[in-house]
Amino acid sequence: MEKPAELKDGVYWVGALDWNVREFHGYTTSRGSTYNAYLVRGEKTALVDTVKAGFFPEMLSRIESIMDPADIDYLIVNHVEMDHSGAVPLFAERFPHVQLVATDNGIKALQRHYRKEWSIQKVKTGDEIALGRKTLQFLEAYMLHWPDSMFTYLKEDCILLPNDGFGQHFASYHRFDDENTLETVMDEAAKYFGNILMPLAPLIPPLLKKVKKMGIPIEMIAPSHGVIWRSHPDKIIQAYSDWSAGVAEDRVLIIYDTMWQSTATMARAIAQGISNAGVENKLIHVRRNHRSDIMKEILSAKVLVFGSPTINEGIFPTVAELLIYLKGLRPLKKKGLAFGSYGWGGEAIPAINDALKGMGIEVIDPGLSVMYVPGDEDLENCVKLGEKIAASL
Ligand code: FEO
Repeated sequence: MEKPAELKDGVYWVGALDWNVREFHGYTTSRGSTYNAYLVRGEKTALVDTVKAGFFPEMLSRIESIMDPADIDYLIVNHVEMDHSGAVPLFAERFPHVQLVATDNGIKALQRHYRKEWSIQKVKTGDEIALGRKTLQFLEAYMLHWPDSMFTYLKEDCILLPNDGFGQHFASYHRFDDENTLETVMDEAAKYFGNILMPLAPLIPPLLKKVKKMGIPIEMIAPSHGVIWRSHPDKIIQAYSDWSAGVAEDRVLIIYDTMWQSTATMARAIAQGISNAGVENKLIHVRRNHRSDIMKEILSAKVLVFGSPTINEGIFPTVAELLIYLKGLRPLKKKGLAFGSYGWGGEAIPAINDALKGMGIEVIDPGLSVMYVPGDEDLENCVKLGEKIAASL
């Protein structure tokens, strides 16, 4: 088993590696994940977060390689979702003297999850717990991404423990960003943001501002999933600032499904028109790509072109499902439009455009629909539409 990693003197990663998790409430995790717990040792000792319940023995044995877990004084619950709090009841049962610490919302959530009569110390933004030689400072992070979410800051070590914030579903033998390929880590961080934090993006800039106002220097960011930002904390903070402001690239995604290849043929012709104008674009077949991977692509593209055949007087189900998922994630500052083939009704195109408008996407053209199979003239119109899309950037 991999040893605990030491972040700084007396601060250790004691979490667990889940190499083979491939699904996380509807999100694909092709690189697995980690559940990060941190041990902070001053004169007293705090454990910040735990792991999924099944990984309790793994966390415990890492702690035991450093100290007797019975000597832990505080268990800080930054977030109650069960990938982090699942081992809290096991820990509290085994070491009943440990003082649990959470926000007001965290206390309510712990009670609703585990139905235990625990005495939990309530903390709010700015509160501190002095361990002796080390001080924990707390910052409520309401709705990032649950009402109970909290960041813990290690004052003397300048380490931020933001739980899900800045995380990545990425299992690696190596604990730190500089020991892994940065491109891979950033790729997973983008997917994580696009699928989990994007709907809450407007809350992020005020929180980053609050952190700045508190005057807390951040030398390291140790999230609850993936690797620790030791060498590139500024890079991930800048990425969060950009993503939460809707900053994206001059890139077009053509996201489609097709019944008899007519909509796929239109998609390729539209892509040709966009390429003619020298604008980067990508074809994404909805049934060949998981929605969580599509969301990562959407995060960094300015224009989303949705293609769907009309079926049963409406949108093709796979495209409709993606639109519902996208609506919940509240995309920022996107442009879009619809296209597709139909047999006799053609209702999918206006329905997609309405869906896009409903989620705040600027519809730049009424779109294009073609009866049955596109002919030469239809394909020329698709190329022209592609050129128009490119010109909108
Ligand atoms: Fe990683 Fe919100 O749990």
